[in-house]
Amino acid sequence: MSEQTLSNLMNEDRRFEPPADLAADANVREEAYARGDADPEAFWADAAERLDWGRKWDRVLDWDDPPFAKWFVGGTLNAAVNCVDRHVDAGHGDKVAIHFVGEPEDDTRDLTYAQLKDEVCKATNALVELGVAKGDRVAIYMPMIPETVVAMLACARLGAPHTVVFGGFSADALANRVVDCGAEVIITSDGGFRRGAPSALKPAVDEAVGKASEQGQAVRSVLVVRRTGQDVDWDDSRDLWWHDAVDGQSADHEAEMHDSEHPLYVMYTSGTTGKPKGILHTTGGYLVGTSFTHWEVFDLKPETDVYWCTADVGWVTGHSYMAYGPLANGCTQVMYEGTPDSPHKGRWWEIVEKYGVTIFYTAPTAIRTFMKWGDDIPAKFDLSSIRLLGSVGEPINPEAYVWYRENIGAGSVPVVDTWWQTETGQIMISPLPGVTHGKPGSAMKALPGVAADVVDDLGASVPNGSGGYLVLQKPWPAMLRTLWGDDERFKDTYWSRYAEKGFYFAGDGAKKDDDGDIWLLGRVDDVMNVSGHRLSTTEIESALVSHPKVAEAAVVGAADDTTGQAVCAFVILRESALEGGEAAPDELIEELRKHVQKEIGAIAKPRQVMIVPELPKTRSGKIMRRLLKDVAEHREVGDVTTLADSTVMDLIKDKEGSGA
Ligand code: WTA
Repeated sequence: MSEQTLSNLMNEDRRFEPPADLAADANVREEAYARGDADPEAFWADAAERLDWGRKWDRVLDWDDPPFAKWFVGGTLNAAVNCVDRHVDAGHGDKVAIHFVGEPEDDTRDLTYAQLKDEVCKATNALVELGVAKGDRVAIYMPMIPETVVAMLACARLGAPHTVVFGGFSADALANRVVDCGAEVIITSDGGFRRGAPSALKPAVDEAVGKASEQGQAVRSVLVVRRTGQDVDWDDSRDLWWHDAVDGQSADHEAEMHDSEHPLYVMYTSGTTGKPKGILHTTGGYLVGTSFTHWEVFDLKPETDVYWCTADVGWVTGHSYMAYGPLANGCTQVMYEGTPDSPHKGRWWEIVEKYGVTIFYTAPTAIRTFMKWGDDIPAKFDLSSIRLLGSVGEPINPEAYVWYRENIGAGSVPVVDTWWQTETGQIMISPLPGVTHGKPGSAMKALPGVAADVVDDLGASVPNGSGGYLVLQKPWPAMLRTLWGDDERFKDTYWSRYAEKGFYFAGDGAKKDDDGDIWLLGRVDDVMNVSGHRLSTTEIESALVSHPKVAEAAVVGAADDTTGQAVCAFVILRESALEGGEAAPDELIEELRKHVQKEIGAIAKPRQVMIVPELPKTRSGKIMRRLLKDVAEHREVGDVTTLADSTVMDLIKDKEGSGA
């Protein structure tokens, strides 16, 4: 990593101290770091006390056969009981678990913990009637509605691992996942509401069932929630309405205590090549890791907080920080079905105002979208209930961080930038809101009980001020246990690179600043090499976004005869910069190139800047730089099937054609 490259982010010298009242009353204090360092197993055993166990564990961690970890060995528990029943038993049955907000206006529903418990028990009984037994896999392909959480918890209650497939995925993707994990039952709905209209799901399931059967995987039952009321094709031999199967069931279900290492779910995530990886999470460690970090990082006060994580339940963030963590902590949360601009661009802020949301957790891509829409939109709403803001999913550019703090957090609310992965299950690197001062753009350091470092090719810790690869040096409770059905790929992908040291290789580039704090620089495959200098896409993107006319930027390294790779930037302008016509003047492009040069250095000056109307994103909001690279390298654009909107690439290619 070149000196020049590293200096840009290090020039970020804004610092925000934790608010005094938050610090005074913080759930986790400075001393936790020392405790976590001194004896991580004791630290996590302590954290495990927050759950209800059928039988206590005999051993905290079995790491005798790395990288195959077992946590809370010999312990038994039930995840659904921990997320629901015990709160009812403790007298909190009337407390709202979920404020559901449908996309159509005024389509809202509150579910108390007592109601949630009844629903989960009924659904569990329905699954039993359908012949689902402990250990069977169940696929869930749903919109963001309460039944999705009910379905997940019913599976967990039975011990039938679920695999939730994001509702935006295609029939092919669903079929592949169903086949890979051998699911015989799919839970879905007729559709959900998105962008002001019903959007169908059932047809994709019908298609997926056919495709799965061609690949030898028979799906015998499809349970369908009626959400939109749209017409659906029906196959009597396998399709069943949720309200017919579930509503008449008994609300009593005696839950079995499952082994701590019993599989809880499989979540598929894309690898660098080939078929998706089925990340396996198990019960005890996962629930300890997610519930503890949810309480720790968000400084959760379950009695008073109203929490809202905007992630779709089809992603790991929706699993750990919407379903399992918050419910295990017995808090009240918001669940919103639709898109942020339906029916208007202030919808999210309207929801925050209405429910008095206190903790808000979203992704940088959303924040940058709001920046693009303009400050006046959130300014119309009363956001004063918010006391903590979180970010996840990609590096947050300092400008986006500051915008978030200023415009959503009244200029005083702490922002926690949380680094983790589907594989880690729980947040690993993040500030502690009552302890750590905020540094825009830095995820700061590993949480107590977690060991993370930035190392060089040989696994040696890099000095402060240098960059390298992010590794995790000790096992943690919510870590993935393996890839479903593929122990070899599990070892190979994560553990072979630093096998001698026994480190987990996260696949992310990172650097340590002069204080030793960690800055995530994006996937290592997004790191460019320009004239022998390593440049991070993230860093250049941040530089671009720091220009007042830029809303969002994506940077790729395109092959270049002279420099190896060259920086190519794709930029979306802020609405205010577009006034006076769509066409991007050459002066502006030159201005942006010079701006990057000024921010980072001549080495980072983009060879090319293209002003585009949209960026290609996956449905989880990640920019697909691979496709932009195809454009920059004048290649046929590759596979676009995982794009949220596959027409975006046509818009971008048009721009290229016009020489913008
Ligand atoms: C990236 C999402 C920088 C990172 C929870 C990681 C981040 C990948 C951050 C995992 C962050 C996530 N700062 N980068 N705060 N959070 N990432 O599996 O590259 O969808 O490896 O899990 O997202 O994405 P995944």
